[in-house]
Amino acid sequence: MTQHTDRDIADLRTRLATARKVCVLTGAGMSAESGIPTFRDAQTGYWSRFDPMQLASEAGFRADPRMVWDWYAERREGVRRAQPNAGHLALGAYAQRHPGRLTLVTQNVDDLHQRAGNGDTLRLHGDILLDRWLERCTHQPSLTDVSGAVPGRPPKCPHCGNLVRPGVVWFGEMLPDGAMEAAQQAAFECDVMLVVGTSGAVWPAAGLAQVAHEAGAHVAIVNPQPSEIDDQAHLCLRGTAAGVLPRVLDGV
Ligand code: OAD
Repeated sequence: MTQHTDRDIADLRTRLATARKVCVLTGAGMSAESGIPTFRDAQTGYWSRFDPMQLASEAGFRADPRMVWDWYAERREGVRRAQPNAGHLALGAYAQRHPGRLTLVTQNVDDLHQRAGNGDTLRLHGDILLDRWLERCTHQPSLTDVSGAVPGRPPKCPHCGNLVRPGVVWFGEMLPDGAMEAAQQAAFECDVMLVVGTSGAVWPAAGLAQVAHEAGAHVAIVNPQPSEIDDQAHLCLRGTAAGVLPRVLDGV
């Protein structure tokens, strides 16, 4: 099921037009054409150039807070400069045409789905544009006051020295409260699941395709490369998010 035909696209469009519930899971490839690098693509992916344990774990942050903070500050700038691509916009328009039908679940920490009209996206891995405390700060100064008023990278609580960190989920950390449960429910209930731009290497997000498949949904993957969860798909569309999503979603 690796090569798709015009008939596969037509079949998927019919399913998306008539589905009661649709669930879409996106990963870093979704935003690649907006200029945000993926993690595992050879050469361009972050984890082909940087050590994830240094940059995406609490231990790495504690070992060198300034280096990690600066890396996220640069990524934040990239996210702020980026614009939603044709794939984000096609998903946003589909959701507006069919209120209540689509649950969009993302592993991405950018805000491009939100800016494309999917305001209620379930964000499994947090939000890179948000700050949070490393520890529960007993003094609880407001984060705006701290990051605005305290010099230093990363900003610190002026009373206890507690550090501010980016609001993303690092390796070994819990997902945001309730997000995975809501995503599993959506995967279980949907008639069609689209999986876009993820390698399927990170759990529990990668397990959502299997939940949908086992519950009887039609599962279609959009990815120019093979992924680790292709065996869960009825159809693999070998193309990019910005190229394929408008073809399957526009006008349905
Ligand atoms: P990966 O970098 O692991 O995978 C990106 C996938 O996108 C690959 O399978 C690519 O083939 C595909 N891809 C590349 N360009 C594409 C395009 N234009 N259109 C569609 N697909 C394209 O990214 P994720 O699967 O999202 O964790 O990685 C999962 C998690 O691992 C991330 O959320 C991140 C990372 O560590 C956190 O931030 C917590």
